[in-house]
Amino acid sequence: MGNEVNRRDFLKAAAVAAGPAVITARGANEKINIGWIGVGTRGDYGIRCLHDAAPNDVYLKAICDTCGPYIDRGIKNVQDTWGYKPETHKDYHELLADKSIDAVYIMTPEHLHHDMAIAALNAGKHVYLEKPIAHTIEEGWDIIKAWEKSGKICQLGTQNRSSMLYKTAKEWIDKGMIGEVHYARGFWYRNALANGNAAWRYDIPPFTARGVSVQAATPENTDWNRFLGPAPKRPWDPHRYFQWRLYWDYSGGISTDLLVHQTDIINFMCGKTLPKSVVASGGIYRWTKDDDRDAADTITAAYEYPGNFHINYSSYLGNARESFGEHIYGSEGTIVVENRWEAHFYPETYSGVPANVKARKEIHLYNDASPLVTSGKVKSDFKEVDGVLAHFRNFVNSVKGTEKPITPPPIGQEAAIGGHMATIAYKNKKMVLWDDAARKYKFA
Ligand SMILES: NC(=O)c1ccc[n+]([C@@H]2O[C@H](COP(=O)([O-])OP(=O)(O)OC[C@H]3O[C@@H](n4cnc5c(N)ncnc54)[C@H](O)[C@@H]3O)[C@@H](O)[C@H]2O)c1
Repeated sequence: MGNEVNRRDFLKAAAVAAGPAVITARGANEKINIGWIGVGTRGDYGIRCLHDAAPNDVYLKAICDTCGPYIDRGIKNVQDTWGYKPETHKDYHELLADKSIDAVYIMTPEHLHHDMAIAALNAGKHVYLEKPIAHTIEEGWDIIKAWEKSGKICQLGTQNRSSMLYKTAKEWIDKGMIGEVHYARGFWYRNALANGNAAWRYDIPPFTARGVSVQAATPENTDWNRFLGPAPKRPWDPHRYFQWRLYWDYSGGISTDLLVHQTDIINFMCGKTLPKSVVASGGIYRWTKDDDRDAADTITAAYEYPGNFHINYSSYLGNARESFGEHIYGSEGTIVVENRWEAHFYPETYSGVPANVKARKEIHLYNDASPLVTSGKVKSDFKEVDGVLAHFRNFVNSVKGTEKPITPPPIGQEAAIGGHMATIAYKNKKMVLWDDAARKYKFA
């Protein structure tokens, strides 16, 4: 106590001596220093998004990655976007040891989220953590514990919750526009990659993307052991490093990569939290030739929720015709959100008779990315391209203390639990139940 009083007196005296600028360690007008862990696909994009979202509020001080060629690309990206050269690290602990860094973005593979997020929170950093919160349900609880203890801001990367399309769809549902809701559908369909590679077989450097050439990744310039982190040790394998989504050691596959976004946003729109149960089936049907993937390319999951609610989820990585979206089916109407660029309301009719006596018109919202807009077929003044800028902005404002984070860890954990339950159901070929009291899954 005595020391605390002395410290306060000292700070007051120092402030009087040096003027108002040093009254707080970080004054309201000072920029938030950011450290960026993981400058792969999402990180490379995110660095540019952060500049669009909050160029005057943050200073991107340092980037960290275990892949030398990605660090080189990251330096160029920061120089091109932000106009200066960031500091660089290969070991995230070094970045976290920099006391001047206030907040970190973590955009690394799923199996590393647990150790990195906890280390960052313990080091007193605010954290923006990509989805899924962690590689297992238990690890997610650990992150929540560390977050509660830290008193820091932590935002999960399920950015759809910041998207105006989904917020509007939620308002439509909350207003009762689609009547009673018991059924929703989420789906994500993809095929091969543009370069002809199989689904999820992303490029291994060397390659050129966005006009930037990325040099070859080798065991000399890429830290394989730091990539493995807590995962089982094995010899250098660039497929595992750059295509980690396909292997159970680092990913829960479709369920924790794509499905989590979609069950999360259905929960948001329909006011739901955790499912009671899930059954899932599927397999590796399409990508069987010369392909050692663990994760299914075909998944169907059926969720039961408390309060008579059902989600029918499907994903197939062998045909892209339907792309991705979420449909909410009510007794008096249907809401269709697709590709994060369009939302539609359709009043329900029974055999041509309107389900609701009030005459209601269809509503269609498109943003600039929609092919319906670019083909000139439909006009809409809806401009937002993706919730990610708003989500980043919300994180920055939360660190500044002017907003509350939209997706704190408990929301991220709810999203991840649904995904993990589907992976567990698929792997074990059993119905998985959620035991809310024990905060664990169990088999039926
Ligand atoms: N919110 C979204 O819409 C969205 C979209 C894409 C990806 N993501 C998430 O972003 C995360 C990253 O995905 P990605 O597609 O960018 O993967 P990626 O493989 O392209 O990038 C991962 C990066 O992490 C680096 N890395 C690996 N081990 C590291 C370590 N020990 N220390 C520092 N860096 C390390 C890799 O070198 C690579 O640059 C995942 O959690 C993914 O689910 C979210």
